[in-house]
Amino acid sequence: MGGLSKKIFQIESLTDQHKEDKLLLDSGNLLFKRPSVAAGPSQERLTAQTIMQIYQNIGYDAVGIGPLDMAAGIDFLQTEATKDFPWISANILDDHGQPLFPQWINKEVQGVQVIITALSAPPKNISPAVKVAPWESILPELMPRLTKESKTPFIILLSTLSTEENRLIAEQYPTINLLLGANQHQRNASPRLINNTLVTQTEKQGQYQGLLEINFGKQRSWGQNREKQIADLQNRLGSLNWQLQRLEKKSAKSASKEKYSRTIERLHKDREEITAKITSLQEAMAQEQSSDILTDQYKYRFIGLKKNLPNDANTEKILQNLNQRIRQLHKRPRKSQNTANSKAPFAPGHDLVGFRVCESCHPTQTEFWQTTQHANAYTTLAKKEKNLDLECLPCHVTRNLFSTNHQDLSKETLLSLPRELQSVGCENCHGSGKKHSIDPERFKMIRLPGKNICLICHTPEHDDNFEYETKIVPISCPAE
Ligand code: HEC
Ligand code: HEC
Ligand code: HEC
Ligand code: HEC
Repeated sequence: MGGLSKKIFQIESLTDQHKEDKLLLDSGNLLFKRPSVAAGPSQERLTAQTIMQIYQNIGYDAVGIGPLDMAAGIDFLQTEATKDFPWISANILDDHGQPLFPQWINKEVQGVQVIITALSAPPKNISPAVKVAPWESILPELMPRLTKESKTPFIILLSTLSTEENRLIAEQYPTINLLLGANQHQRNASPRLINNTLVTQTEKQGQYQGLLEINFGKQRSWGQNREKQIADLQNRLGSLNWQLQRLEKKSAKSASKEKYSRTIERLHKDREEITAKITSLQEAMAQEQSSDILTDQYKYRFIGLKKNLPNDANTEKILQNLNQRIRQLHKRPRKSQNTANSKAPFAPGHDLVGFRVCESCHPTQTEFWQTTQHANAYTTLAKKEKNLDLECLPCHVTRNLFSTNHQDLSKETLLSLPRELQSVGCENCHGSGKKHSIDPERFKMIRLPGKNICLICHTPEHDDNFEYETKIVPISCPAE
């Protein structure tokens, strides 16, 4: 959440000059970082509600619904407080096949009718009363309805589908003018023209803003790439001609001509189609040169979130309120956890809580840590059947690094560690976290663990080429 009020400041200043003719769009996956979130009040739910509030405040026009937005269920997106949020999705349906959200919205920009629709990728798990229909069954019925909305609508599709699916959609539906993706596996992707659809995506989680400036022409097609389109088509024509020649030669020599006739016929058809396309593109280009701009033109920029941007004051207030509510939330359940923790195996003198507690407030860092070898350090021992060896355990588990309490390294402690401590955990680098977990604002953790901490385990004996500057890189948790 750290960057959110900077991001809002950035968006507001970027769009300031274009108050009337801007669209604020998000393709989705903005609420949660995990595919499924437990029921009941939690930091994650409070945070998600706050994100919706902030987006609504600055006037987002439309937001697609991604699988990560459905992590707390569809109901979570439809409460009294969030019912005015501009969610759209063409393919989230109830059990009668009726859409649960607006399938599209209409906006007028620079005198052009802009239609925004959205497709959601299916989430990992969802209530049986909700269906996320595949695009193949939605678009054939939806697209004719959209193109009827106006004579020359500009159609935008927000999509959390895969890059491959987006490509297929662009190929099959050239009436979609712009496809904004938000899948989890792609970074900033510069606009790319597939037939007549411009496809682009901005990196996930608000690290970048994508700014696309469009000058609408009289026709709905993109201008810039005409020449390239023609060149591509001519290349294809060349290779088709070559294929045809080869096949026709073979067929002439062959005794069974019907073996080739079907393919030859198909290639002839393709050739006709491509030739027609080239002619129409050339005509359009000639017309363009003799009149006003006919086609749509675009410029784009990806703008990184910078640490030195000021915070947006309103957003900052909302976030402070969120922090307060999170603290209240954590004060209550923590009491009972403390009593549980005071029992062994969290031995006396321990201020360790284990990574599961950190995860509840730092899901991003926890998810990252789980991809490092530190998370497997105990398993490594177990595989060698050394997980009961007191000589090995101290560097392959979570322990209180600064404790002079011998009990922390005692046989009793090391051999009865709970699951959450059977790994080189968060607290090995950031310090013991019991107090911080109760009141994070008052009790700070070590943010950047120094070399001295690593060297407790990365001794020359066990890691003969330990170099802090290089080894810190692959294990540094991401921000936010
Ligand atoms: C409590 C002991 C301990 C501490 C403290 C510790 N490490 Fe490690 N580290 C290990 C062990 C054990 C492994 C090997 C784990 C395995 O392969 O199962 C390891 C592995 C690594 C690796 C290889 C990781 C990978 O994912 O391939 C890097 C890099 C590393 N440590 C860097 C650091 C740095 C930098 C610090 C200090 C900020 C640090 N470690 C602190 C015990 C520790
Ligand atoms: C002083 C701390 C320390 C002790 C004690 C220790 N290790 Fe490690 N161990 C490490 C570190 C640090 C690494 C990671 C080294 C690297 O990244 O190159 C590691 C890595 C490993 C690995 C994975 C890499 C490899 O070399 O295959 C195994 C297996 C391993 N240790 C087994 C053991 C066993 C068995 C014992 C007990 C006999 C033991 N360790 C005791 C710190 C320790
Ligand atoms: C091997 C050491 C190591 C381990 C283990 C580790 N971290 Fe980190 N963590 C780092 C480093 C290095 C940074 C980067 C600090 C910086 O660049 O300022 C960091 C940063 C962080 C930050 C601050 C991010 C920010 O800039 O806002 C948090 C929060 C955090 N880690 C939580 C965790 C949690 C939770 C775990 C366990 C699930 C964990 N870390 C495990 C080394 C570690
Ligand atoms: C109740 C929620 C909560 C829990 C549980 C929690 N943290 Fe934090 N943590 C926070 C908040 C909030 C901040 C930011 C504090 C600030 O900026 O004033 C923070 C900041 C941090 C930082 C950055 C340095 C700092 O203190 O500002 C690190 C590192 C960190 N946490 C690690 C951990 C680790 C490791 C655990 C588990 C032992 C943990 N946190 C458990 C809420 C929590």
